[in-house]
Amino acid sequence: MKIKTINTSAYTDQQPGTSGLRKKVAAFQQPHYLENFVQSIFQVASEVKGGLLILGGDGRFYNKQAIQIILKIAAANGVAHVMLGRDGILSTPAVSHLIRKYKAAGGIILSASHNPGGVNGDFGIKFNIANGGPAPTSFTDKVFEKSKNISRYQIADSADIVLSELASYHINEMKIEVIDSVTDYADLMQELFDFEKIKQLFKSGILTMCFDAMHAVTGPYAKEIFERRLSANADALINCQPLEDFAGGHPDPNLSHAKELVAKMNAAQGSPGFGAASDGDGDRNMILGQHFFVNPSDSLAIMTANAHLLPGYKAGICGVARSLPTSRAVDKVAEQLGIHCYETPTGWKFFGNLLDDKRITLCGEESFGSGSDHIREKDGIWAVLFWLNLIAIKQQSVEEITRAHWKQYGRHYYTRHDYEAIDTDDANGLMQNLRDKSTTLSGTSISGLTITLADDFSYTDPVDNSITTNQGVRIIFDDESRIVFRLSGTGTEGATLRVYIENYVTDSAGHDDDTQTALSKLIDIANTLSEIKSRCKREHPDVIT
Ligand code: G1P
Ligand code: ZN
Repeated sequence: MKIKTINTSAYTDQQPGTSGLRKKVAAFQQPHYLENFVQSIFQVASEVKGGLLILGGDGRFYNKQAIQIILKIAAANGVAHVMLGRDGILSTPAVSHLIRKYKAAGGIILSASHNPGGVNGDFGIKFNIANGGPAPTSFTDKVFEKSKNISRYQIADSADIVLSELASYHINEMKIEVIDSVTDYADLMQELFDFEKIKQLFKSGILTMCFDAMHAVTGPYAKEIFERRLSANADALINCQPLEDFAGGHPDPNLSHAKELVAKMNAAQGSPGFGAASDGDGDRNMILGQHFFVNPSDSLAIMTANAHLLPGYKAGICGVARSLPTSRAVDKVAEQLGIHCYETPTGWKFFGNLLDDKRITLCGEESFGSGSDHIREKDGIWAVLFWLNLIAIKQQSVEEITRAHWKQYGRHYYTRHDYEAIDTDDANGLMQNLRDKSTTLSGTSISGLTITLADDFSYTDPVDNSITTNQGVRIIFDDESRIVFRLSGTGTEGATLRVYIENYVTDSAGHDDDTQTALSKLIDIANTLSEIKSRCKREHPDVIT
């Protein structure tokens, strides 16, 4: 088949954010928009020439069209072999695993994660490198540079391939293998966790569960793992049919968006003992008990304290990492275990070096993400299995496990307030004001609390010594409470301000308060310091998690 060289004009807005390039579908549908970006990736990722590429996405609108385009550009750029998930479906953790298992040179994931989909929704594209993890900033910066100067791309003049059948095809020399999206991943989960023990939990009737796939990518994975391999209760799975628009929902597993699951778990009668949900591309998780929510930062701390009990982690863990805004609950566990706890900027890509260098076994973020060294992405279903396995071992409920943890280590009340789609200039002004202020705040007092540290967080990677600056303004008080301010790097409309607030309470007599009430004084301090009301004309956050 002929390779065509197409003349194109560069776009100036193809800068990847926290997790790849994310834009409205309409932006990706502009002439040559996707093509330019993909060609720029192949120009930087020269290792995929002659190598294996893993390709798949979360099934959102434009997934299938994008896959056909990427295949043709890959063939024209000398990729030797593509393994492609059936129907173009692969969860983000599954791509990470396939890259590692089949020693691929890299992978392309099509997803805008938890952002809404459909024709008016968001789309995204992300490149993962040979370790299975998101490409580092040094890579994405180069791709952005290429994209600003691109004048032509190469594409095979070939017919679309059938995505729905497990079969092999060729475009010129390039082999395309359509593979089952689930099996390899499910096998890996079975190696890490005690499936027999979990199965027993369901069989004996001790536990019933509800998993909400939010009409996103984890539906097929949940069916294979929870239904077929673990024989969970018959009504365990909801919203497991992946849909291009996620049925109009917002596939983000939190208390605001996973409404159906939350209603079931909070029902006056007959609620399941365990509830969980995952996001658009399957890397996030929310864990619930009966009438009980596990804060993701607590979940990471609980996993760290108990990992050695699980088959995949019985050798113990060598270290742990959390992103800056994630609560410091895990730090308390690390201290007791005598292991190092790394504090990184937001985004999974910062964990890659620490995992590769065997400095950490577990890592997580407050944004409903946790994972381990089994792959190089966060992993929603993995987290759900971790909890199920833990329940099976401890024979305790989600709430009992969490409360026992607080009792031993103290409780970190934690909340995140998001102000969405605010004017970009207002948001930048607010952050600059905080940065300026932060230099003189240390040692001063506000509402009876003394500030012990205030700065704009920057991170030096201990493995490659790369420095990442401007990662958020943090303010730490003398009673170990903390406020962090940063702007989102994944939004597609205006700017999103995230305010992260936490407070540490050791005495278990104080562990039953409502989170927003327990944090009200700090919330007021955050509002005063940021001047959110006057600068952005916002009275209340849009989303509270
Ligand atoms: C958000 C989360 C961050 C996560 C990222 C990708 O990024 O806050 O923890 O890694 O999504 O899932 P943000 O929009 O805050 O830049
Ligand atoms: Zn995601």
